[in-house]
Amino acid sequence: MSRGTSLLPAGLYNYQVRSHSLWRFWDDHPWPALQTACFWHPALESTQIVLVVSTVFQRSAWRYQDRAYRRVFLDSGHLLGNLEMAATLCDYRLHVIGGFADKLVNQLLYLDGKEESAIALLALADLFQVDQNLPAARSALPSPIHAKILPVAEGELLSYLHENTLIAADAGFGQQQQKSSDALLPSAIQAGTAAALEPKLTAKKLTAEKPLADKYNFPFGITVSTKTQPIFWGDQLSELENTLLTRRSTRRYTGAPLSQADLFALLDFTYHPEHYRLQGFDSQPDYFDLSLIATFVAVSNVDALESGCYYYAPQAQELRQIRFNQFHKDLHFLCLGQDLGRDAGAVIFHTADLGGAIAKYGDRAYRYLHMDAGHLGQRLNLAATRRNLGVSGIAGFFDDQVNELLSIPDEEAVLYITTIGQKTARQPN
Ligand SMILES: Cc1cc2nc3c(=O)[nH]c(=O)nc-3n(C[C@H](O)[C@H](O)[C@H](O)COP(=O)(O)O)c2cc1C
Repeated sequence: MSRGTSLLPAGLYNYQVRSHSLWRFWDDHPWPALQTACFWHPALESTQIVLVVSTVFQRSAWRYQDRAYRRVFLDSGHLLGNLEMAATLCDYRLHVIGGFADKLVNQLLYLDGKEESAIALLALADLFQVDQNLPAARSALPSPIHAKILPVAEGELLSYLHENTLIAADAGFGQQQQKSSDALLPSAIQAGTAAALEPKLTAKKLTAEKPLADKYNFPFGITVSTKTQPIFWGDQLSELENTLLTRRSTRRYTGAPLSQADLFALLDFTYHPEHYRLQGFDSQPDYFDLSLIATFVAVSNVDALESGCYYYAPQAQELRQIRFNQFHKDLHFLCLGQDLGRDAGAVIFHTADLGGAIAKYGDRAYRYLHMDAGHLGQRLNLAATRRNLGVSGIAGFFDDQVNELLSIPDEEAVLYITTIGQKTARQPN
């Protein structure tokens, strides 16, 4: 949606992927209505263009059935990661909005909300415009918690989940409350949202400041510092565009070892965007709430690094070992017998305490967690591509066995897996 700029006349546009073009299907813009639907998110006050990411559920569900509900958010998270980088190359910054009145936004875009639904909005701030150099604002709002799960017919779970993660237009996030980071919640509490169930939740916790916290420190196993030199992306990010264009999911690894330096560089780029500010990257890209996500690394074949499963402490920049053995076979099994799991040098698991996430964001937490995990996955993909490594996401795994086999704490549900390994010379990635 454009309010009208010198590059893009006012209107509603559909991005046509095949021809990489915009098709204007409405020559006016309902910006004020969009602001209402987004509960007056501050980024919409001065930006002129907003990208709306929508999902057509059936495009994933025909293959993955109910599990498609995860995949569409993981895929969209990858997309957010790519758009963040593309925006950087064009001197824009993305302000991510995940808390909005779903039905209103869908109506504005003529989406039916069932077959296709908006899932994230990205306000595009033009960094050459002084009034668009905006501070990061909150990107997630809570939806209600549905404590009673009704029986769901086979094949209906996806739409049931989506319906239960909606935010209503009258959810109680009023204009004044949205503008003030100190007074977000009173009417949300009246409306019975997740926030109401967490008495200590203050508005500050819903603002943009959601630092990565080191959640686990185990009294056993080795600790390895991952501090390293940042990846170099060329003068004025000259290598970034090429990396975006050439990134592909690797289909087979050689089984050769990764170097420690490569693994540490990938972790650095993914979890420490602030190390890349001087190269021109966004040093604080928007996520929904990274404090909810933990990272575990199963090391199978990394030079000079003992095999085992490690917790990655992002603040301390350390790998803390929680399991000691070799487990190519276990990883092969956990990844549904996919060879990518067996032959990877390292496998990264993004996890979350679902109970804690739901207490904070209601059932909508499920969306935010998967989009954030996908976004992290895209950074891993790009860093791996830049280092000429193979990489592939894996969303198909045996959820119930992961924790036990890798000693990941029981409260952590695995959201997404990224495998990293050496690729054969002939593969593009
Ligand atoms: C969220 C997500 C989950 C994926 N899961 C798997 C998987 O379980 N197995 C697999 O072989 N590839 C998996 N992939 C890789 C996709 O097959 C690949 O991204 C897709 O075919 C598009 O190709 P590209 O990444 O090279 O553009 C996954 C990718 C994403 C983004």
